[in-house]
Amino acid sequence: MTAIAVLGAGLIGREHAELVASHASASLAAIADPSPQAQALAARLCVPHYRDYETMLDEVRPAGAIIALPNHLHAPAALACIARGIACLVEKPVADDLAAARRLAEAAERADVPVLVGHHRRHSPDIHAAKRAIEAGELGAVVAVSGMTLFDKPDGYFDVEWRRSVGGGVLLINLIHDIDVLRHLVGEIESVRAFTSNAHRGLAVEDTASIAIRFVNGALGTFVISDNAVSPWAWEYTSGQALYHPSEPGPYLFLSGRKGALSVSDLYLWRHAKESDHWQDRLVRESRSGDGSRTYVNQLDHFLAVVQRQAKPLVDARDGMATLAVTLAVDRAAQEDRTVTLAEMLAEGAEAA
Ligand SMILES: NC(=O)c1ccc[n+]([C@@H]2O[C@H](COP(=O)([O-])OP(=O)(O)OC[C@H]3O[C@@H](n4cnc5c(N)ncnc54)[C@H](O)[C@@H]3O)[C@@H](O)[C@H]2O)c1
Repeated sequence: MTAIAVLGAGLIGREHAELVASHASASLAAIADPSPQAQALAARLCVPHYRDYETMLDEVRPAGAIIALPNHLHAPAALACIARGIACLVEKPVADDLAAARRLAEAAERADVPVLVGHHRRHSPDIHAAKRAIEAGELGAVVAVSGMTLFDKPDGYFDVEWRRSVGGGVLLINLIHDIDVLRHLVGEIESVRAFTSNAHRGLAVEDTASIAIRFVNGALGTFVISDNAVSPWAWEYTSGQALYHPSEPGPYLFLSGRKGALSVSDLYLWRHAKESDHWQDRLVRESRSGDGSRTYVNQLDHFLAVVQRQAKPLVDARDGMATLAVTLAVDRAAQEDRTVTLAEMLAEGAEAA
């Protein structure tokens, strides 16, 4: 059994704790979180409860740690794990700014302690199937991509202070997952432009954004996101893979290439019947499918292999930093009403670190 501790047992941390506790080859070593709810969860799962994560790491010495703390604590907690040689799964964003993300990536590499970033969609059957189709050349070169994440969070979600403050809005909480999928499926992003809005909820943080993307390989993309709009169009619903959302099979992401098109998560692949066909000919529609596995279980299985040093992190701290850089570029592009390049973001992150 691989002993895994959970740092921060709020909305997602408690799900991680339950997943670890019910995994055949893992045991939940402890929960570190000062809240009374976390204490009650630890009591229910019969594991030690700590208010302070450093004390817990020193006393329990778990083989691995899952960091599900508020964003600004990701880097300090991951550095605390690295200093003790403990592999960690750090929730996204890898850190709340690029300098901290770079310090974390460098510390992990120097100490040779693996850090896996919680971009769970990389472990999802629909994203796996899309990646397979693209790599097999079924779409040809991807020319254009468009997607949306539109859902409505309840007012109570924003009772937690950090979710109302800069860095706690829909970009760093949700868009970051979409950016990670776009990088994974289409390729590295060169630059972005964007608008953000808080017109409808009226908090300091943005609730809605529209984004235009230029990829290094020449593909172009658009994405709209809101946590204040009703729709069934978000991976959380369409994949049927999220932990605490209903399943609503359908599409949220549309990829179009020189040879074919693919919608995700419903995995319809559209192509011409003959090479000489064009826009006036009927397309052929085929179905692709995932393997029926569960995203968060796949992620935990992978993390256990990482903890045992049997696998390298699928999304390491440097990879997480690249996704963070694009997400922060979106924010800057909206604030400053201009095109922001990745090169600019990464150069600044390097200087500040
Ligand atoms: N991958 C996913 O599916 C997913 C989903 C939701 C949230 N997240 C990420 O997970 C992180 C947590 O989000 P959440 O929605 O669960 O937040 P949350 O506010 O519900 O939970 C955070 C928990 O951390 C605890 N905490 C705060 N300071 C602490 C400290 N110093 N030491 C120990 N515990 C402390 C709080 O008491 C709280 O229980 C965020 O970074 C978020 O972006 C990821």
